[in-house]
Amino acid sequence: MNARNETTDKPMRRQYVKFSVYEIDPAWRRLDPSTRESGKDELCRIVQGFSSRLFVKSYSLIGMRGDADFLLWQIADRLEDIRDLSATVYGSRMGAYLHMPHSFLAMTRRSIYVSPDDPHASRLIITPTAAKYLFVYPFVKTRAWYKLSKDTRQAMMDDHIAIGRKYPSVKLNTTYSYGLDDQEFVVAFETDEPSDFLDLVMELREAEASSYTERDTPIFTCIAMELREALDSLGATVDKLERLPRSVNGHGDEWVRVLSTAEVPDGASKVVYLHGDQIAVFNIDGKVYAVSNRCPHANGPISDGKIDGTVVTCPLHNSRFDLISGEPLQGPANKPLTRYQVKVEDSLIFIASAYGASDPERTLPAESR
Ligand code: FES
Repeated sequence: MNARNETTDKPMRRQYVKFSVYEIDPAWRRLDPSTRESGKDELCRIVQGFSSRLFVKSYSLIGMRGDADFLLWQIADRLEDIRDLSATVYGSRMGAYLHMPHSFLAMTRRSIYVSPDDPHASRLIITPTAAKYLFVYPFVKTRAWYKLSKDTRQAMMDDHIAIGRKYPSVKLNTTYSYGLDDQEFVVAFETDEPSDFLDLVMELREAEASSYTERDTPIFTCIAMELREALDSLGATVDKLERLPRSVNGHGDEWVRVLSTAEVPDGASKVVYLHGDQIAVFNIDGKVYAVSNRCPHANGPISDGKIDGTVVTCPLHNSRFDLISGEPLQGPANKPLTRYQVKVEDSLIFIASAYGASDPERTLPAESR
């Protein structure tokens, strides 16, 4: 059964999660430099063009495995958005040289082994971190596991969860594939410390639940980087060719067009993605605000929160935040929401990087008209 949003009593949204592992045909490296560069530019533009429809985070696997060059981690509300991105990538100039030797589709779901009151159970909305490394693999339990009583499984999972909490530098994202894809789960671990992940996996092998693992390979070791950089690492980079035209603000940060004002009308909110961050965009009385979509308390989806004036209430545990300053007005959150620079030009909404804590522009929303 779907969990419910405490402030609106509507079912909480669940997300589709897709890991697409691409490999490039070596013939692409023999193309002339300008063809390769324009193909990379086009692919970056395609992925950026989907920023209002799905989250895409890119990773390089060059040198990590023989059958994989880069990975796109996609998070969407609709399967069609994942399909459309894939189709557009394959229709591009570079797409003619790409194939996908590995692909994992899954959905978010509340864990049945974690109490609903535990913030770690709130995994309906995936919120990737800025971690440098991602370790991904499909996971299948033995059928004998499902014959065990719920209490027996719970006891084993309690041990499993306790081991995981000994490694706070490693964040686990578990998603569910039953009936959607070949595996039962896709697990994605984010960390800045591969050695911590290695130690965690070694310790988990000794836990009793491990004897009920049917399959947990292939494993992908991925290095986070901007898509352009990941494509450059495919080889044959030409440094001196002209790159995409850039529009920058006074601090040299790039403005990225994320939405038209028609896509986020008065009183509405929308999630967009910028450099790996999930950003909630609100239009309140013609003024546009952009804040992190991750509540600083326990990652609640701020875009789903109730709005009252310029105050948003987190749907998970009811922390209230002022969208103008980002400051918490009511706990349990005790840290501010990250705010992003936003401007509106010709009915288009642009976002640049987050404001620093002492930035004097911090209190200025953008007019949407
Ligand atoms: S996640 Fe707990 S108040 Fe937002």
